[in-house]
Amino acid sequence: MSAHTAPKRQDFPADFRWGVSTSSFQIEGAAREAGKGESIWDRFCSEPGRIRDGSNGDVACDHYHRFPQDLDLAKSLGVNAYRFSIAWPRILPNGRGAVNDAGLAFYDRLVDAMLARGLDPWATLYHWDLPQPLQDQGGWTSRDTVSAFLEYADVVTRRLGDRVKHWITHNEPWCSCMMGYWEGVHAPGGRNLADAMQACHHVLLSHGQAVPLIRTNSAGAKVGITLSLHPISAASDSAQDLAAARRHDGLRNRWFLDPLFGRGYPEDTLALLGDAAPTVQPGDLNDIAAPTDFLGVNYYFPEMVADDPAGSHGPMRAKLVERHGVERTGFGWEVSPQGLVDLLTRVQRDYSPAVIQLTENGSTFEDVLTPDGHVHDAERLSYLQRHLSALRRAMDAGVPVKGYFAWSLLDNFEWAEGYLRRFGIAYVDYATQRRILKDSGIWYGQFLRD
Ligand code: FCB
Repeated sequence: MSAHTAPKRQDFPADFRWGVSTSSFQIEGAAREAGKGESIWDRFCSEPGRIRDGSNGDVACDHYHRFPQDLDLAKSLGVNAYRFSIAWPRILPNGRGAVNDAGLAFYDRLVDAMLARGLDPWATLYHWDLPQPLQDQGGWTSRDTVSAFLEYADVVTRRLGDRVKHWITHNEPWCSCMMGYWEGVHAPGGRNLADAMQACHHVLLSHGQAVPLIRTNSAGAKVGITLSLHPISAASDSAQDLAAARRHDGLRNRWFLDPLFGRGYPEDTLALLGDAAPTVQPGDLNDIAAPTDFLGVNYYFPEMVADDPAGSHGPMRAKLVERHGVERTGFGWEVSPQGLVDLLTRVQRDYSPAVIQLTENGSTFEDVLTPDGHVHDAERLSYLQRHLSALRRAMDAGVPVKGYFAWSLLDNFEWAEGYLRRFGIAYVDYATQRRILKDSGIWYGQFLRD
């Protein structure tokens, strides 16, 4: 780790958005309360062997009941924005059709509580908890799910659109589609690349078609989508590895960025996908390219790849290789603040979004609650500080970043890892549901209040 001076809030513009990021399934709990329907994550958790610690989201951080205290905690840090997601199955338990007013009423209270604390609500419509009844009809592989999403988006934005002025249609289509329908590690646990690509197309289409609808229902709102993006390098200077890096980048990054920025799907990636390429109807690409107000970027780690001539890791014929001697998080993810600079400058160079919002960035380590009641998470603190400094460098290089949201306010249900991975800047003692600000959270608060 190189010597590093802590960043200062004054280094950033006065109107910069400072936030924390969360998602419904990961924190809310109340899985069967107030008319909520089953989500694909409820179902996935009930299948043996899916979640590493055998846990589920039934209680999670019990945020559904404890949100006033959680928002107090966020406010105490000095953030001015709060990113959360809405659980579709609370609103439309069957995915479409009957609206559950109690679900809408919960988000009414949640949003009002944010506003009362001076927190600007940033709502994500889809952070992976699809209603199970839609999955029973094919989930995102079915084009009907696009119209169901529009129905849901319409109901939610009509109800909350007067108060919520920042909308994110989808969080990380890579994860919901590729990890959910191809790699089999996320709900619904599919293992078919063609399904994943079709799902991905429908997710992007639902995004693009929702943008004008959200604008109609939420006057003056800023609307965008959040992608998980990775800077990608080749394991060597060989022509083979360089070409593999380009192919991998095609599926990992360009597959999403190109159509969103009006270029359609990348030709090279389409050719490699062959039969697994999605069915695209006339007009779809035009819809996907609906102009947005910002691009949400979630940054966690860079990837290094080598040629994989046998294609045993998929049709991009690229395999991930571990860089040696680098710092890693508890997840094994490489820690690379410079990767954030590389990623953002690349996105800016190749796509020039008018505004970028860093909607997630964070790390997991083995946290220890010490007898004196503290969590001395020096590694997470250092991760946070160095990524903020990297963000400043990217901005100095001309990247129009307007906001940063730390992932996450609280330790929470980390998907297939259950509660084994703690990403919070506040520790959650799950036995008592007590929240304890970690050193990283204490520092973030000092930084913001400075
Ligand atoms: C991102 C997800 C978020 C969280 C972090 C660690 O991919 O958007 O829900 O799980 O990773």
